Amino acid sequence: MSGQAGKVRVAVVFGGRSEEHAISCVSAGSVMAALDPERYEVVPVGIARDGRWVLPDPGQQLTITDGGLPEVTGGTAVSLVGDPEARGLAVLEAGAAVGRVLTEVDVVFPVLHGAFGEDGTVQGLLEMTGLPYVGSGVFASAASMDKEFTKKLLAAAGLPQGPHVVLRDAHGAVCADPTVLDEAARERLGLPVFVKPARAGSSIGITKVTDWAQFPAAVAEAAAVDPKVIVEAAIPGREVECGVLAARGSGLPEASLPAEIRLRPGVDWYDFAAKYLDDAAEFDIPADLSADRMAAVQDAARRAYLALDCRGLARVDFFLGTGPDGEDRLVINEVNTMPGFTPISMFARMWAATGVDFAELVDRLVAGALADGARPGR
Ligand SMILES: Nc1ncnc2c1ncn2[C@@H]1O[C@H](COP(=O)(O)OP(=O)(O)O)[C@@H](O)[C@H]1O
Ligand SMILES: [Mg+2]
Repeated sequence: MSGQAGKVRVAVVFGGRSEEHAISCVSAGSVMAALDPERYEVVPVGIARDGRWVLPDPGQQLTITDGGLPEVTGGTAVSLVGDPEARGLAVLEAGAAVGRVLTEVDVVFPVLHGAFGEDGTVQGLLEMTGLPYVGSGVFASAASMDKEFTKKLLAAAGLPQGPHVVLRDAHGAVCADPTVLDEAARERLGLPVFVKPARAGSSIGITKVTDWAQFPAAVAEAAAVDPKVIVEAAIPGREVECGVLAARGSGLPEASLPAEIRLRPGVDWYDFAAKYLDDAAEFDIPADLSADRMAAVQDAARRAYLALDCRGLARVDFFLGTGPDGEDRLVINEVNTMPGFTPISMFARMWAATGVDFAELVDRLVAGALADGARPGR
């Protein structure tokens, strides 16, 4: 082990270039506080909004305060070294200890959400370094970030999902022109539809369309976030989530007790405002489900994790509706490979309700990544 007095040195990477910069800082603050100081030496590594990597200045704020949201700004410039011999980070600034301070990292915990964090990009960089890291690899991260390919892989595994269309032109190229959704497709989807950027999060760029006259503006809004636009039939029903965590030792996925998000009256869907700004939702943890439904959600969550080749953890989000004959209709909405990770986040609360507290959650992930070691050729 590389850290002081034989401790495991964990680089916790946070911030990043996505819209979810601030929530990543808060998640990372919680992760660092939960790592047992007897066993782990923590190295905080911030990524500024413009993509600079820094060892944050002492006193870096990582909580939401009256003063506002946390943000990575200043610090000592560092770089992750691609050469696996280096095993970690080099200080870039001339003068103090260039290339020396952190050349020995044992494991990296990228607590990053969204683009350049949860989408396989940072995972690719970590693969180059040869360092073990927490969470899904390049492929699972990229596939889970992309709502089109998530659905393709889930379909291949026989997992349930709702009707949808990706906007493409006659050649099959991605095309954000609303007229490419022809009449037959409109009829098949019905109204309302949800128009979404294929690769985004936090409900950014999503519109619920209840009249086709609103469709062109909705496509333009989604395309401003991602040129690939996906149109989904609205699934009426309850919103249920389930945490998946690799079991200690075997690494096989275990499912938490599911939770339900209940929107307050007057809140139509879980949009950005409902997620972060308002007191718009209530959470039932665990969800009020029959034993059969509970087992079906947990089984589908584990299978989705495996179908997407996830590693370590995931949060699988569902709609639980009712089919034409009154039977349950479970549909997977999406898979998050690095869900919000504070003690009050759904993922942690679902695991707490299942008997795995926050410190054990973090420990299991770090220990699992160390046990897996480097991941060559993935
Ligand atoms: N097909 C759908 N049917 C019903 N509600 C939907 C559908 N798609 C999205 N929603 C609503 O929009 C929210 C955000 O959509 P989601 O696909 O989860 O995007 P994000 O990746 O930004 O979280 C969901 O939590 C749900 O409230
Ligand atoms: Mg979602």
